[in-house]
Amino acid sequence: MSSQPVILVLGATGKVGGETVRQLKSAGDNRVLAAVRSPEKAKHFHAQGIETVVLDLDQPETLKVGLEGVNRALLLSGYSVDMMRQSKRFVDAAKQAGVQHIVHIGASGAATNEVAHWGWHQFVEAYIEQQGFSYTHLRPEAFMQNVTGPGYRWLEGNVIRHHVGNARWSWIDCQDLALVAAHTLQEPEKYAGQIIPLGYDAKTFNEVAELLTEVVGQPFYAEARPPEEFLENALAAGADPAYMTCIYTQFKLNSSGAIPNADATFDNFEAITGQKPITWQEFAQQHKNELAY
Ligand SMILES: NC(=O)c1ccc[n+]([C@@H]2O[C@H](COP(=O)([O-])OP(=O)(O)OC[C@H]3O[C@@H](n4cnc5c(N)ncnc54)[C@H](OP(=O)(O)O)[C@@H]3O)[C@@H](O)[C@H]2O)c1
Repeated sequence: MSSQPVILVLGATGKVGGETVRQLKSAGDNRVLAAVRSPEKAKHFHAQGIETVVLDLDQPETLKVGLEGVNRALLLSGYSVDMMRQSKRFVDAAKQAGVQHIVHIGASGAATNEVAHWGWHQFVEAYIEQQGFSYTHLRPEAFMQNVTGPGYRWLEGNVIRHHVGNARWSWIDCQDLALVAAHTLQEPEKYAGQIIPLGYDAKTFNEVAELLTEVVGQPFYAEARPPEEFLENALAAGADPAYMTCIYTQFKLNSSGAIPNADATFDNFEAITGQKPITWQEFAQQHKNELAY
């Protein structure tokens, strides 16, 4: 029987979880299990020689089986208030299954109580701690992939439509977040008890558009739209009203400069990964072909 730690990764079909699975698989010193919501979604992983378990946070009966034999887990949820119920359910099941270490993907720790979903993530963190797990709480700032995709994105053609006025944000490439997640899952003793903020390049949307223009060699523009338009569009698209209202509130506060340190960057990345974090300049370079129009 293998003595390698068994690491379960939630959100494996998504941006952060998917890359975390790939990182852990290529590190090779663990047994990684990609959690998927249905057997159909497993096929893509099996083709790459990656093991899967079927685990749906909305189907409590799948948690017991999915968590069997798991030592460490990446807890990640989607963009919905259901994250609270789902995360508590997961933490309770993980406790029963004997999981030792949980790495949680949270959100910004900026000093405001007005952006509710940031607080929701902190309540989840507190519950993980209260249940006695060894833990690492990751608190990423804005994903560069919000602008470019994959999937839903703010860039349409050569215009980035956003809703935060002249706010300068702190940004992170999801691949870098996944790299940190993989390291903290591989070396839980080293990162136990830590809250790790992640955000490595501070830019306004105008500055992002200027960089894309420079790197791609075609003009890109940023267009500031009213925050109300974001909420209307998100609700019309069927997104969760509770979570989208939090983001709308964040955008409104950002627009008036009322979120302290929204552009805070951190110097912890190199010590964790041995690499430098991706800047917008490098990100644009890497995605140059997809960005060209
Ligand atoms: N976007 C940002 O700027 C930002 C910043 C800070 C923090 N975050 C946090 O990042 C997290 C999202 O990460 P992401 O962008 O990588 O997500 P994503 O690409 O939207 O993927 C979400 C993942 O969660 C899975 N999932 C959804 N509902 C589930 C359920 N009931 N049971 C099991 N799995 C379920 C999805 O599976 P399916 O493929 O089956 O749907 C998918 O794999 C959120 O917690 C968010 O708060 C985001």
